[in-house]
Amino acid sequence: MTPRLWNALIALPLVGCLPGSADTDGFTEEEMDLIETLGPLGDLPHNPTNKYADNDAAAVFGQRLFFEKGFAKALTVAGSGLGNVGDTGKVACVSCHDPAAYFSDARSKPAMTSLGVAWTSRNSPTLVNAAYQKWGSWGGKDDNQWFQGANGSESSQNFAGNRLHFAHLVYRKYKADYEAIFPTPLDPALDPAAPDAARFPANGKPKSSGAADGPWEMMTQEDRDRINLILANTGKAFEAYERKLISKNAPIDRYIAGDRAALSPAAKRGLALFIGKAACIDCHSGPTFSDGKFHNTGVPQTLAPTAVKEDPGRYEDLNRTLSNTFNGAGKYSDDPEAGMAKLANMELTDDLKGMFYTKGLRQIAKTGPYMHNGAFATLADVVRFYNWGGGTSDFLGTKDTAMRPLLLSQEEENDLVAFLEHLTGDPVPMELTLDTAIADP
Ligand code: HEC
Ligand code: HEC
Repeated sequence: MTPRLWNALIALPLVGCLPGSADTDGFTEEEMDLIETLGPLGDLPHNPTNKYADNDAAAVFGQRLFFEKGFAKALTVAGSGLGNVGDTGKVACVSCHDPAAYFSDARSKPAMTSLGVAWTSRNSPTLVNAAYQKWGSWGGKDDNQWFQGANGSESSQNFAGNRLHFAHLVYRKYKADYEAIFPTPLDPALDPAAPDAARFPANGKPKSSGAADGPWEMMTQEDRDRINLILANTGKAFEAYERKLISKNAPIDRYIAGDRAALSPAAKRGLALFIGKAACIDCHSGPTFSDGKFHNTGVPQTLAPTAVKEDPGRYEDLNRTLSNTFNGAGKYSDDPEAGMAKLANMELTDDLKGMFYTKGLRQIAKTGPYMHNGAFATLADVVRFYNWGGGTSDFLGTKDTAMRPLLLSQEEENDLVAFLEHLTGDPVPMELTLDTAIADP
């Protein structure tokens, strides 16, 4: 107790109920001040680059597309549970972001990444509360939340689709949803029976560098713009839906609000370690349990055989953001200036290699396996990894100096896990977990 507090105590006629000094449950006042920075979750950050971010109709449309399998191309891996090699139309967003696992991948085994048409190079993160993140995806590739959805159909491991095929699907099945929200109607030439249907080939996307021109390059610039606009708008609808996937009211929030029974005794000891000896809060800070920054913790790539051999993390992801048509600074952004400000002065420097975004820890007990490559099956594995001071080999770049052996006992490791198990809030509303995709005739 501080000397100032002792003086206050002495001056008081009745000890036991100090004005201005709430019950700190065995923590010091300084510790309690720190604990109170961990919750509750506030309002979602505003995203000026998407004017449909909080549009309810866009969220309804985004949900339909989230369950839509029609834009997935041929499966390349046997035994995925999705279908047979060569089958098309078997993968939807929901395949890897499962509502039963707080929109992470319940199928992914420890040390395996997710399976779409092929093995993904990284582990599927939870989408619940993801809209609070400054940068989405493990290496922060998504400078805004609609980036991911706009690029989604062409992801080679998830869908291996292409933007023309996707645009045709939107025209065929979701024209009414689309046109009720977005001011520019879909081009009638997207109807294969239209006299000028040849303007929009059935398949095509920008060629990879060095390749010969394909159907996409043969199109007029105006028509390419029309297709890109469809990708941007549907990306914005995905974001509107994802912004509804919010979970609050975790035991830690109730504890902070004054319910001292919301954490078990073990969890309270774990909390003390989290903000003290184990110093997790140095990176996992604030109500999202993330500092919004990138760090190198040295997670070994070899622990996850289905992941890529080397993952440059932030280095690669920033490169992809800066060159992508659908970043917040680009022509499909609703506020390119704000998007530009976020990307200004960002340079590809070597120190970014091997860095990943500090993931939030809410609902962490529900979203294993853990880390960008799914290297760890359980929270106990993760805590042991930190106790050792992080990884020692098989990662790129230089490990953060904050990563050092913590010298925790087995009991302390268990307490930390118990604390992490008290970060799960209410499930998202049932209606957001329903398959609302339009069935094929
Ligand atoms: C085959 C599995 C798979 C499918 C299908 C899939 N995703 Fe993902 N998703 C992932 C993986 C893996 C990542 C991490 C990517 C990275 O870090 O580069 C991810 C990341 C994300 C993120 C960033 C979340 C965060 O916390 O950083 C969002 C948003 C997202 N996906 C939405 C979608 C949408 C929308 C679709 C459908 C268009 C979709 N996903 C389809 C596996 C998948
Ligand atoms: C130096 C910053 C830093 C410190 C300190 C730190 N973390 Fe992390 N944490 C990260 C980063 C970065 C990631 C993502 C790493 C990756 O995927 O390669 C992460 C990932 C995690 C994950 C997995 C998240 C997921 O969705 O898979 C858990 C759990 C976690 N940390 C818990 C802790 C605990 C518990 C402590 C304290 C013992 C701690 N962290 C200390 C930066 C840090």
